[in-house]
This record gives sequence, structure tokens and C-alpha cells, in this order.
Amino acid sequence: MSEILSVSKLNKSFGGVTVARDIDFALQAGTMHCLIGPNGAGKSSFFRLILGEHAPDSGTISFRETDITRMRSFERIRRGISVKFQVPGIFKALSVRQNLEVAFQHHLHGHNLATTVRRVLEFTNLESEVETAAGVLSHGQQQWLEIGMAVGVEPQLLLLDEPTAGMSPDETRKTGEMLHELNGRGITILAVEHDMAFVEQIATRVTVLHFGAIFAEGTIAEIIDHPGVQEIYLGTADE
Ligand SMILES: Nc1ncnc2c1ncn2[C@@H]1O[C@H](COP(=O)(O)OP(=O)(O)OP(=O)(O)O)[C@@H](O)[C@H]1O
Ligand SMILES: [Mg+2]
Repeated sequence: MSEILSVSKLNKSFGGVTVARDIDFALQAGTMHCLIGPNGAGKSSFFRLILGEHAPDSGTISFRETDITRMRSFERIRRGISVKFQVPGIFKALSVRQNLEVAFQHHLHGHNLATTVRRVLEFTNLESEVETAAGVLSHGQQQWLEIGMAVGVEPQLLLLDEPTAGMSPDETRKTGEMLHELNGRGITILAVEHDMAFVEQIATRVTVLHFGAIFAEGTIAEIIDHPGVQEIYLGTADE
């Protein structure tokens, strides 16, 4: 297996808050990998560093064997990184179709755009809601729309920040199936997630962040059994 993303000695602080502390991280191409950790551990900040929305203080980030550490965000996206952030990124007043068209307009035109919109509507199960304003969709449907917006122009690497937050168990399971389908098409997935049943459904490997540093990494079984991981969630581990 080859590494699609590798991060070496990555550091980032905002004033007194360290969000990345000597992070060494390798993501194998073709896998589904979860990133977990308590609130404020630095998970979302790590995504912003990978995407180039934050500049690291030191360290390097490589994507498909190219050093992207100083590349602009749009250039990283052009090379195949896509992201669904924790904060909602849909336009609530626009219809489902308009949201998809806005997401793909810089990459696709005419026939290709129409074909991709149709394919994504089918994938997200939103065919019957195509003219519905995104803001009146159910919470789960809004999350699926946003995943669809992130994968219409097929990325190599998909970053998902808490894709199942606020979903029912049924919606969460459905989301896991959607991610398996994307992964089956060759998309590597790195997801921040709190729901361990969901982590179990999708992830081959799990990395635990704590105070901006990698605290543990392993298979889901290894992470569940790890006594230190249980402690940091209960807030009893030392900094
Ligand atoms: N731009 C910023 N300026 C200052 N501090 C920041 C900035 N971004 C994040 N932080 C701080 O860095 C820490 C890590 O935040 P981050 O959002 O990465 O955590 P997280 O692991 O995603 O948490 P959550 O599970 O709550 O989403 C927090 O203490 C946060 O307040
Ligand atoms: Mg976060």
C-alpha cells in the first residue's frame, strides 16, 4: 500500500493554544481512517492544516508524494483533496439542484454538469427533493447533500468533519453505507467522528488526538481496549 497523505513533525499554535504538536501521520491510499479525540483536541484544525487554511509553524505535508506544505488551498483541491467541514456549508435558500450546480460550476459545464448532478442526486437519495430549498431538508438530508457537493468532482481524498453529527442511528448507518460506496470507487476517506458504532462501521484504522498531539493509533479494537483513550474521554488523563 502507498501513502496518499503523509504529515511530518507538524506544529501549529495560536497564541497560547497548541492545535498541532509534532504530528507524524500517514494515511494509506484506499483506506477509511477515523480521527477521534475529545472536544478541542485539534481535529478540525488538523483538517484546516491539510487543506491549507492554516499555515503550519513547522513541519511538512505531502499529498501523493508532492510536498503541498506551502501550496494554496485551491491548488490542493485541484490536486484531489475535498472536504466537508464541521460547520454547515450548504446554501439554505437555494434548491438542492442549485447547491450542486454551485459546488461543481468551476469544474464542470453543460452535459458533464447535468450528468454529475443526476449521479449525485441518485447517490444521496435526493432525487425527489431536487427543487426543494436545502434549508427545509431533514438534518440528515442536508448532511448528505453536503457530502454530495464534496464528491461530485471525484476527489482522491475526502476529509469529513463529523459527518453524522445530529443524525439518527438509522441516518448514521446509511451514511456509513454511502462512505463504503465512495471508498469502493477508490476514494480514500479520513473522517472525524465521535460515534464509536460509526467508527466501527467504517474505519480500518483510528488515530486519537489529544491536546494537538497523536495520543494513540491502531485498529478499532486496539483503540477501544486502550485504557489511556478511555481516560482522556473521561478527562482523567494528565496533559
Ligand atoms: N483560529 C483559531 N484561533 C485561536 N484558537 C483556535 C483557532 N482554531 C481553533 N482554536 C482552538 O484550538 C483548539 C482546537 O480546536 P479544534 O476546533 O481544532 O478542536 P476539535 O478537536 O475539532 O474540537 P471539537 O470536537 O469540539 O470539534 C481549541 O481550543 C480551539 O479553541
Ligand atoms: Mg472540530
